Order: sequence, then C-alpha cells, then structure tokens
Amino acid sequence: MARKKIALIGAGMIGGTLAHLAAKHEMGDIVLYDIAEGMPQGKALDISQCGPIEGFDATIKGTNDIADIAGADVIIVTAGIARKPGMSRDDLLGVNLGVMKAVGQGIATHAPNAFVICITNPLDAMVWALREFSGLPHNKVVGMAGVLDSARFATFLAWEFGVSVKDVNAFVLGGHGDTMVPVTAYTTVSGIPVDDLVKMGRSTKEKIDAIVQRTRSGGGEIVALLKTGSAYYAPATSAIAMAEAYLGDQKRILPCAVHLTGQYGVDDLYVGVPVVIGAGGAEEVIEIALDGEAKANFQVSVDAVRELLEACKGIEPSLA
Ligand code: APR
Repeated sequence: MARKKIALIGAGMIGGTLAHLAAKHEMGDIVLYDIAEGMPQGKALDISQCGPIEGFDATIKGTNDIADIAGADVIIVTAGIARKPGMSRDDLLGVNLGVMKAVGQGIATHAPNAFVICITNPLDAMVWALREFSGLPHNKVVGMAGVLDSARFATFLAWEFGVSVKDVNAFVLGGHGDTMVPVTAYTTVSGIPVDDLVKMGRSTKEKIDAIVQRTRSGGGEIVALLKTGSAYYAPATSAIAMAEAYLGDQKRILPCAVHLTGQYGVDDLYVGVPVVIGAGGAEEVIEIALDGEAKANFQVSVDAVRELLEACKGIEPSLA
C-alpha cells in the first residue's frame, strides 16, 4: 500500500515540529510548504537526517510551491503571523484572513479530498474562514484547540493531585481563548470526577478554580516566558493526535473546533466540542448536558467567537 501523504502548510515553529513528529510516527511522506524561501527546504533536510538515528522511513520535502501538496491525505495549516506589538485585533485578522484565502484556494485546487486541520489563530475564526475559502465539506475541515487546552488542563491537574497524566481525562469546551470552558464535572482521574476528588479532600475548590484560570491563559503564560513566539511542542502533538485518529479511523472522541449546525444551540459556527474523529473526518458531534455555570460560560465563549466572525465578515466582504 502506498504511503499516506501529509502536507504541512506553514513551516515555522509548529510546522517544523509537526514534520518531525509525523516522520517519527511514520505517518507517511511529508511535504513542508512555506512562502519563506529556503526555510522549509532546510528544515526538511535537517529532519530527514534524523531518519537514520530514529529509524523512520519517510520522505520529507521542503517546498515553496503549493502544487506540491497535490493529493495530500492530511493537511495541517499553521501559516500566518502572530500578533505583533502595536497591531490591532482587526489588523491581525486582516493579515491571517488573507493567508487563509490563499491557503484555502491552494487546498481547493490541489488537495480537495484532504482532511484539513487548522491551527492558525485566532483559531475558531480562521478555521471557519479556511473552510469557506476552500469550499471543502464541513466534516473535512476542523480546528485544533480543545486537544491542546485539555492537555494543559490535564497537566496542571496531574501536578495538583500528584498522579500520572495518563490517568487524567480532562474536558474543555468552547472557543480557543480566554473564554474557553474547562468542565470539571466531566473531568476525571481514573474515572473519578474532579468535583468528587475535591469533596474527598484531595484538593480544594479554590485550587481547582485557579487551575481552570491557568488553563484559560495557558497560551499566554508560555508567550510571556518565551518572549518571542508562542507554544509549539504541545500544539503540534495535539494536531498529530487528530491526524492519526483520521488516518487510522480510530473513532476517537476529541474536543475539536467543528462546524455546528444546531448542536449546543449553535448554528453555522466553529466552536470546540467533543467530536468523533475517524475516516469520515469529523463524523459526529457528541452533545453532552451542561450544568448552569458551564452552560452560561459556553454561551459567553460562543458569543466571543461570533463577534470575531462578524469582524472577519467586515474585513473580507466575500465571507459575508
Ligand atoms: N503561505 C504559507 N506560509 C505562510 C504564509 C502563506 N501565505 N504566510 C505566512 N506563512 C508562514 C511564515 O513564513 C511562517 O514560517 O507561516 C509560518 C508561521 O510560523 P511561525 O511564525 O513560526 O508560527 P508558529 O509558532 O508555527 O504558529 C503558527 O499557529 O498557534 C498558532 O498563533 C499561532 O497563528 C499561529 C500559528
């Protein structure tokens, strides 16, 4: 059987890490595309030379020609720019919308059958715009946020309870940003809800509230420490888990930004909810019952995503 083809659009910090992980996991042959000349070629060569040491078989091609993504099975998009000092939200939206337009058209032309995972921020708006520009079916275009946000939540909880991260199953809903909704009622340690562990005296509500808040600002905490750039190891690892769920038809239930058509009372918006990822892409949204507080917080998050989308439509009339 021919190897799968993984196309990475954007060869920056996350793109390069994705290429290394995809090669290490032998997910298929890899195309690393960027507009910056030489950079994807250099990274591809460097990662190829890990092969003899790590023992992976994968062809890694760096390119500045979008046509090289032709026939890709999975595409992961990190192309774009980060917000720079002095830049308004709408300036950033304008630039990254332009990038999504170019990338979306490239995908439509060269790899319309791919499963597309978007990582570019602001995530919930960019994945929606990328879907619009590419014209691909909604189930084949998803955003990576919830897997990362849940991993951050799980990490902090494992530290708090002094247990293995393997035993923590964390649950985060909503948009990727300050309004995300970590749901403690559905977050468990070996099946025991966090709320019950608090009742058992293994932590306090105050400590869990602080962890929820730290999770919400998890990206910003890393930006402040790095000083240049943002997180890339865990974002790349998260997208690889989603890609593997698709390629392996694993039917994993992962929190992803998916297109909602009435579920959770939301229509025509990409928001983070649990979804079955398998060979059909985003196969089925899992609609869980939310209690009063989580429901209200989810609504705040949805409103924030909708506001961002309206700003996008104002900037790019073809989206309206
Ligand atoms: N086509 C292809 N690549 C592009 C384009 C474009 N039109 N515009 C910009 N790029 C490339 C840049 O040249 C750069 O190499 O996108 C890459 C982005 O890489 P980094 O700046 O290193 O950003 P990274 O840390 O990888 O994050 C990428 O993911 O989490 C989000 O907020 C983050 O939006 C950002 C994205």
